[in-house]
Amino acid sequence: MRGIGTDFEIRSNATVINGQEIPTDSWTNVTPTVLAKINRKLHLQPQNPISIIRQLIESNFQNFKTFNTYSPIVTTKQNFDDLYIPKEHPSRTKSDNYYFNKDTVLRAHTSAHQLQGLASGENKFLISGDVYRRDEIDSSHYPVFHQIEGVFYTDNNVAQLNAELESIRNEKTSNIELVDNTIIKPDNPYQDCHSPEAVDLISAHLKHSINFMIRNLFAEEKDLKVRWIDAYFPFTSPSWEVEIYYEGKWLEVLGCGVVNQRILNQAGLHNKIGWAFGMGLERLAMVLFGIPDIRLFWSEDKRFLKQFTPGKINKFVPFSKYPPCIKDISFWIPDDKWHGNDFCELVRGVAGDIVETVELIDDFRNPKTGKRSLCYRINYRSMDRNVTNEEINQIQEKVRSAVRSEMNVELR
Ligand code: DAH
Repeated sequence: MRGIGTDFEIRSNATVINGQEIPTDSWTNVTPTVLAKINRKLHLQPQNPISIIRQLIESNFQNFKTFNTYSPIVTTKQNFDDLYIPKEHPSRTKSDNYYFNKDTVLRAHTSAHQLQGLASGENKFLISGDVYRRDEIDSSHYPVFHQIEGVFYTDNNVAQLNAELESIRNEKTSNIELVDNTIIKPDNPYQDCHSPEAVDLISAHLKHSINFMIRNLFAEEKDLKVRWIDAYFPFTSPSWEVEIYYEGKWLEVLGCGVVNQRILNQAGLHNKIGWAFGMGLERLAMVLFGIPDIRLFWSEDKRFLKQFTPGKINKFVPFSKYPPCIKDISFWIPDDKWHGNDFCELVRGVAGDIVETVELIDDFRNPKTGKRSLCYRINYRSMDRNVTNEEINQIQEKVRSAVRSEMNVELR
């Protein structure tokens, strides 16, 4: 099968992608839908809002080296083990990821390249790229999205840390209403190998760098509120998440923290201390450009791309919304092991981007037989044309038969 620009074939014993042949095993669950996206690289298409946001973020990190072309096909070692994500952690499951086989996966985050970046010898760098996760389907979730990762480290001594902090002090973060009640405590601790003084300095450097970037991205926003909250990541400690108050809602924008020293040590950087952050680009771009649906980033419709200019944030003017076509599907499931993500994946695989949302609207257990019945509502809508009921009926029929044969359900 050929996708737009991506050459791939899923054979019974191997997946062949961009000339690379990857053996198949019981873990294999990559789909044609996601493989077709690998060569699109929206973060490198100058007109695409994803790329515009990436560049604006990069411009806030002076002298950071950028790595934007690492392949999204990585080892499970890179995606999980190198970051100390525990073996049994739920983020490793087949229902959350796209595996080529048990050792090879489509990266689920740009953190998969932290070690590679550290090995480059650069002490400040940014990594951007497409990342892949099996997830639900709605206007803000798509199986492929984009992230940018930042890493900074320096000598682990107080004089050097003070000098680094001094050098960015002139960057203004005024005009920002900052809420940060986080304090170091046992469930979000210093690492034993670090002195509290050094961690406080590197944390101040991290927080200043992030607040500065956010302030600049939201330059047009008058009353910007930014909130720091405690978080947990296996690859940092202490760890935080940053949220932005935007149009009445707190929006999670990034995760960050003081790099797990074992990661720096793996790269031979024993006497260094560092910070890292990772943030998704789609949600930010949707907010800043006023883009209502995540599928639009993938649109090749000129009416979308022609509205944007590199280096500039402007509000998207929606072209008229076409009417939706809504279909329900109900079935008895074979046992209680049901993964909604697998169902969404199947729907997306059969029906493609015409699916706007998939919503569980009923979950019922027959009190006599104990059998469980689910009803999902699928909302079909094209971004660029009217769909006919006949056409959607045909697609829905294909969805029904795929669900029956592949998920072993009894249709109602
Ligand atoms: N990789 C995390 C995710 O995708 C985000 C993240 C959190 C990246 C903390 C980092 C970090 O580098 O330090 O959810």
